[in-house]
Amino acid sequence: MNTEINMAVAVVGPGAIGTTIAAMLHEVGRTPLLCGRTPRDHLTLQEDGRSMTVPGLVRTSPKQITRTADLVFLAVKATQIEAAAGWLTALVGQQTVVCVLQNGIEQVDKVRSQASPGHIVPAVVWFPAQAQSDGSVRLRGEARLTLPDTAAARVVAQALQGTRCAVDLAENFSTLAWRKLLQNAVAGLMALTHRRSGMFVRADIAGLALAYLRECLAVANAEGIELGVEVPQEILGKFQSAPADMGTSILTDREAGRPLEWDIRNGIIARLGRVHGVPTPISDILVPLLAAASDGPG
Ligand SMILES: NC(=O)c1ccc[n+]([C@@H]2O[C@H](COP(=O)([O-])OP(=O)(O)OC[C@H]3O[C@@H](n4cnc5c(N)ncnc54)[C@H](OP(=O)(O)O)[C@@H]3O)[C@@H](O)[C@H]2O)c1
Repeated sequence: MNTEINMAVAVVGPGAIGTTIAAMLHEVGRTPLLCGRTPRDHLTLQEDGRSMTVPGLVRTSPKQITRTADLVFLAVKATQIEAAAGWLTALVGQQTVVCVLQNGIEQVDKVRSQASPGHIVPAVVWFPAQAQSDGSVRLRGEARLTLPDTAAARVVAQALQGTRCAVDLAENFSTLAWRKLLQNAVAGLMALTHRRSGMFVRADIAGLALAYLRECLAVANAEGIELGVEVPQEILGKFQSAPADMGTSILTDREAGRPLEWDIRNGIIARLGRVHGVPTPISDILVPLLAAASDGPG
């Protein structure tokens, strides 16, 4: 693994999260190679009324790649991993570290066939960013990632050292990733109602959300994750005290008619529930609804 800051870094999927990371690297003179789907000659990050341009052609075909990278940030949606596989084939060599910037808890499994597991780094992405209709990205909040405390993660931390993207290496990474998963799972209710955070103050929705979060918690605990009984109420409370118009990326995708990350955010609870014999009656209703909303037919 290359531990020099002078690394060859690529960002695959220069969308909301990928553009943020690319901009943070560019700002300190470490402009990454950009690999995407839509051709662009630069990326733009909007932040607090400021705008930053990341120069550089967005490559749109893995055939344009002539050498492997030391570090790849994979920031496509989980539903796009298969289509983006050619990028990893072209960019990943024996020593390449792949940092998967995606929601869920299955980041390593998703790319296991394309990089050696010890070189794959899952991430919890804490910052909200949103692609705008003009192709720019709006970052809302401080850029921050949590990674597990591993040798490969230290390569990622080093690449981002001195940038405005904070990196925490956490010994309790799995616990943090599961907590974020619970938050994402319950946010899925917004994609079904087409409503934003404000809906969680309704007593009926609050009751459903709490029951669903407790179901998710039971599965987490069965997986050996030490999240306490207070967590469902804490997560619900955050949604209730958030601005009423705060959305979630699964709602944005739903409104745009795009495929939803329902399986990594919600399906996972039902799948692991079955493995551990934990009943998941709420998931058993929510997941088919989200899956059908995402993938049809009809
Ligand atoms: N956005 C957030 O606030 C946030 C926060 C936490 C976690 N996350 C997670 O981060 C991950 C990325 O989300 P995002 O919001 O950044 O998604 P996004 O804005 O949709 O970005 C995905 C990017 O991947 C590109 N892409 C799609 N297929 C590709 C392919 N075959 N090859 C190369 N590039 C391809 C897309 O290109 P096009 O421009 O052509 O669509 C887009 O630029 C998701 O798992 C999400 O759940 C997001």
